[in-house]
Amino acid sequence: GKEWTDVSDLVEEMVGSEVLIRGRVHTDRPVSSKLGFVVLRESGSTVQCVVSQSETNKVGTNMVKYLRQLSRESFVDVIGLVVLPKEPLKGTTQQVEIQVRKIYCVNKALAILPLSVEDAARSELDIEKSLQAGTPAARVNQDTRLNNRVLDIRTPANQAIFRIQCQVENFFREKLLSKGFVGIHTPKLMAGSSEGGSAVFRLEYKGQPACLAQSPQLHKQMAICGDLRRVFEIGPVFRAEDSFTHRHLCEFVGLDVEMEIRKHYSEVMDLVDKLFVFIFTSLNEKCKKELEAVGKQYPFEPLKFLPVTLRLTFAEGVQMLKEAGVEVDPLGDLNTESERKLGQLVLEKYNTEFYILHRYPKAVRPFYTMTCADDTLYSNSFDVFIRGEEIISGAQRVHIPEVLEQRSGECGIDVKTISTYIDSFRYGAPPHGGFGVGLERVVMLFCALNNIRKTSLFPRDPQRLAP
Ligand code: 4AD
Repeated sequence: GKEWTDVSDLVEEMVGSEVLIRGRVHTDRPVSSKLGFVVLRESGSTVQCVVSQSETNKVGTNMVKYLRQLSRESFVDVIGLVVLPKEPLKGTTQQVEIQVRKIYCVNKALAILPLSVEDAARSELDIEKSLQAGTPAARVNQDTRLNNRVLDIRTPANQAIFRIQCQVENFFREKLLSKGFVGIHTPKLMAGSSEGGSAVFRLEYKGQPACLAQSPQLHKQMAICGDLRRVFEIGPVFRAEDSFTHRHLCEFVGLDVEMEIRKHYSEVMDLVDKLFVFIFTSLNEKCKKELEAVGKQYPFEPLKFLPVTLRLTFAEGVQMLKEAGVEVDPLGDLNTESERKLGQLVLEKYNTEFYILHRYPKAVRPFYTMTCADDTLYSNSFDVFIRGEEIISGAQRVHIPEVLEQRSGECGIDVKTISTYIDSFRYGAPPHGGFGVGLERVVMLFCALNNIRKTSLFPRDPQRLAP
């Protein structure tokens, strides 16, 4: 019946008391037959345990022998006395030491691990080494880490990344619930594709052709037709991406929003502004420790954002690029490079790394996007950027069924496969709009990480279906 103490709770006030803790063998260092050290780790926290034979602790010798055969990462339980070390400790998070009275192995890890947790934490620094060895650097390291993801996740930076990710979802939900939104779940098995294009996983559904949902787009709009008025969803999104890039996954987590619009699509951008300023502020306030842990392995500057998010029109963006000597098609889409460039220009001019670009050319947006009332070449749509990379796309939607039919035809979508969607608008639908956010991208770009695989627990990309 002894109570368990978390390693993270071992502090100076506990000196003199006996505790029971469980942790992994982080490092062990038998020094002599009578003295040994073992550092125990429990998620991010570490504490040094001392096994010694002394006047007060007669059990030492056998225990030091026992320490020698404990492999790294094994789970052990320790009963011991909390003491203050003779000198301040450097290698552990906790500043007290445990004088071991009893130690049990709960479950042994393989003696030789494919990747040590320290190696995983250091692997970014090893790029130089692998360059010297003539192997492609980042890929080697990243693949090794991802192949051994359960070990990789144990590193402090990764522990922090997935806690931050959880909080982004949490703040997203919290803010939307407070504004009267309803959380929904839409089907991931669909008869037709929702975003068009080739990036769709096809499958057979009881003898009928089907595909995995490329977004909740159609059904979240149908929820609006069903009078749910303001909805959000957090769920998986599937894209059969061909491009192997730092920011594309074949499965990611989508944060989706759809809402009625009274007058203007700026109402949707107002929500993006309030929601993301809240998310960023809350992360900075409530995830200090986690952000620090990420920064320790991957140093980054905190995100610069304004209290009210900057909005530029696509045409203004094109003009800024033009003035900087970058010519882009005013009725085309921006490529990755021009998006980055525009991000830099915006940072220089407005001192923000988070902004909204709206009124995109109609031709580059999906079929369900509403055309601008005053200029049919443009659309009531927007993208949102962090550090020059897209995290959100959104728009006002077409709510007139005849227009939807015509637009989907023009965009090469087989109207038959989405007939139930189009029919939903025949019974009266309010003007509405919304947006979709990629969760992994938000975390990646907030922490200025260089690869989306770092913010996906078990990433799925064009070359990876395991672990
Ligand atoms: O820009 P996308 O494709 O837009 C939609 O799915 C619309 N239905 C959204 C809407 O409501 N109008 O995807 C939305 C976001 C992107 O901005 C990006 O952050 C992320 O999803 N995303 C990806 N993330 C990781 N890997 C991929 N392959 C992604 N494709 C899009």
